Amino acid sequence: MEQYVIKGGAKLQGEVDISGAKNAALALIAAAIMTEDKVTITNLPDVRDINVLIESIQDIGAIVDRVDRNQVVIDGSKISSVTVDYEFIKKIRASYYLLGALLGRFNKAEVALPGGCDIGTRPIDQHIKGFNALGARVMIEHGMIKTKADELIGSHIYMDVVSVGATINVMLAAALANGRTVIENAAKEPHVVDVANMLNSMGANIKGAGTDVIRIKGVESLHGTEYAVIPDQIEAGTFMFAAAATRGNVLLKNVIPKHLEAISSKLLEIGCTIEEYDDAVRVIGNDNLRSTHVKTLPYPGYPTDMQPQIAVTLAVSRGTSIVTESIFENRFKYVAELVRMGANIKVEGNTAIINGVDELTGAEVSAPDLRAGAALVIAGLAAKGFTVVDDIIYIQRGYENFEVKLQKLGACIEKVNSEQEVAKFKLKVG
Ligand code: UD1
Repeated sequence: MEQYVIKGGAKLQGEVDISGAKNAALALIAAAIMTEDKVTITNLPDVRDINVLIESIQDIGAIVDRVDRNQVVIDGSKISSVTVDYEFIKKIRASYYLLGALLGRFNKAEVALPGGCDIGTRPIDQHIKGFNALGARVMIEHGMIKTKADELIGSHIYMDVVSVGATINVMLAAALANGRTVIENAAKEPHVVDVANMLNSMGANIKGAGTDVIRIKGVESLHGTEYAVIPDQIEAGTFMFAAAATRGNVLLKNVIPKHLEAISSKLLEIGCTIEEYDDAVRVIGNDNLRSTHVKTLPYPGYPTDMQPQIAVTLAVSRGTSIVTESIFENRFKYVAELVRMGANIKVEGNTAIINGVDELTGAEVSAPDLRAGAALVIAGLAAKGFTVVDDIIYIQRGYENFEVKLQKLGACIEKVNSEQEVAKFKLKVG
C-alpha cells in the first residue's frame, strides 16, 4: 500500500503548474464518444479516475491513442457495445456520464452504478428525471443503470437540486435529441461551461451554460474537434491553502483566476496576500492568519471540494472558525484524523467548529476520500515532525504528480511503499 511520508515545517516557496480539471475532463471524455470522428483532448490530467474512464471506453470499442501523458485522440467510430460493466468503473463517480453520452448517440446505454468517494448518499434521481423527460426509460438492475429510448425528444426540465452531474448528463443526451431542451436550475460550475463549449465545437447548439438556464437545440450528429481541458480549480485551490497553511509564497500558473474567486476571497479574509495575473495567482501566507466562517455552496459559492483544505488551514489560524457543509452529509470524516494531529475541532451535524491551535503535530493518518486526503497532506506539511498518510490511492484519483509538485515547492514529502521506506526517509531527513 503506497503512503506519503512528510516532514512538516517547510514553507512552500516557488511556482507550480496546475493541471487540467479532472471533473471537466471526465465529462469531455464521455462527450468525445458521441461522434464517429476523432476527438483530440489536450491538457488532460494524468490521474487515476481519467485513466479508468479511458480504459472503460476502450472496453466498449473506442480506440484511444495516448499521444502523450496529457493528450489523447479518441476514435469512437468502432464502438460496438453500449454496456459499460468494466470492473473498475464502479469506483469512479463520473462513470454516469457514459449514460448521457451513449444514450444521446445510440438511444441506449447500460452502465455500472457509480461509486466514487464516500461523502454522502449521492442519489442520481435528477439524472433519471432528466432522461425520463427526454423520453428515455431508466431501470436499475443487478448493479447496472439501464436506459433506453425509441427516440430522444427535447423537453423542459426543472432540476430540483443544483447538480453538476445531472446538468452535464442531461446536456450530453439532449445535444443529440430531437428538438429543444431547456434545463432550469442548472449547475453553473466552470466544468459545465467547458462541456458545453466542447460540444458546441463538435457542432452542438447549446446556449446559457454558466447561467442557471441552459438551452439546447438538438442536432442530427456531432463531428470531431480538438479541445483543451480548463485548469483544475480544485487542484489550484488545494495548492493555495497549502501555501497559506505553511506560511509560504507560491505562484500558481495555468489557472483562471475568476474560477478561484471564492477561494481567494476566503484567503484574503484570513489574512493572506493574493496577487492576481492573467493566468496565474500568487498566494502569500504569514504567521498571523485568523479565523473566518465559510459555507459550501454550488458555484459561484465556496466549493464543497475545497472544504477540508480550508478547515486544515483554519485549524492553524488564530480564533474560532465555523465551517458549514451544505452539499454532502458525510464530509467531515477527516476531522477525527486532524484531531489526532492536535487540532481542536468539534463537529455538530453539518458544522465544524474550529478553534485554531498554534501548531499541529505529525501522526499516522488515513485519507478517507480524495479531497480530505489532500487536506491531510496539507496538515502534514504544516505540522511539526513526521506525518504518514495512508490510503493515498484516493489522492491519486485526482491529483497529478502531487508529491512531485510539492517537492518542487520545497516540501519534504515522499511516496513510500513499506515501513522500511518510511524509516529510511526519517533517517535521511532527520
Ligand atoms: C460533482 C463533482 C464532485 C463535487 C460535486 C459538487 C464530478 C465527477 N464530481 O459531483 O467532485 O463535490 O460535483 O460540486 O464532477 N443530488 C441529488 N440528486 C441527483 C444528483 C445530485 O440529490 O440526482 C444532490 C447530491 O446528493 C448533492 C448535490 O445534489 O447533495 C450536488 O451533487 P452534484 O452536483 O450532482 O455532485 P456530483 O456531480 O456527484
